Amino acid sequence: MSQLSGQDALKAQVAHAALAYVQPHAWIGVGTGSTVNFFIDALAQSGIAIQGAVSSSIASTQRMQALGMHVVDLSEVPSLAVYIDGADEIDAHGYMVKGGGAALTREKIVAAQAQQFVCIVDQSKRVEVLGAFPLPVEVIPMAVPQLVREFAKLGGNAVLRMKNNQAVVTDNGQHILDVHGLRLTEPLALEARISQWPGVVTVGIFAFQKAHVCLMGTPAGVQTLRY
Ligand code: A5P
Repeated sequence: MSQLSGQDALKAQVAHAALAYVQPHAWIGVGTGSTVNFFIDALAQSGIAIQGAVSSSIASTQRMQALGMHVVDLSEVPSLAVYIDGADEIDAHGYMVKGGGAALTREKIVAAQAQQFVCIVDQSKRVEVLGAFPLPVEVIPMAVPQLVREFAKLGGNAVLRMKNNQAVVTDNGQHILDVHGLRLTEPLALEARISQWPGVVTVGIFAFQKAHVCLMGTPAGVQTLRY
């Protein structure tokens, strides 16, 4: 960890702290992203013998399998003791914006099956009001123009996420809209509202599946926040 600098050092710090929430022989849920990658590596090195993991993305599955971890489908597991994942933003209530890595749909599904959501972030993710990070929304491609208009009515500028001049395709074969310019002052109400729009697969507001615990990396050490 000592060779890491800045934000990566904070991510590694919270990834190690999250090991305290992993019980031997448990089934755990594992999220997606650079912070979770530190967690996966720390778990592999820890020697904690979990029963296995449910993954929220192809990328995390591949990383865990390469390290010899047992990864199963959610349907094969009775319940998950804990779900460990990062976030793009988290507020004082444990409400989050997620989906910067395009894995939000599976993240929300796996989180909903877990008894406890442990969010691991560096301090840059803590916000007073969600929304400065463009809100990711996984959408059915044919609904994109209609959804762009709906977000405009809310004051948001919805932009199709692109990579190499192509629309990003998620693990579920869908697209991502990143909505700029929203202030998410009522995350529960907005999550409920947007989730009902035809063509929306998953909105990246995690208010109904909020964090129970946040391990936040700071230069002074890991802060544990409970909600
Ligand atoms: C993945 O789709 C996201 O929800 C991630 O949890 C989020 O983008 C955090 O990623 P980093 O840990 O890379 O910041």
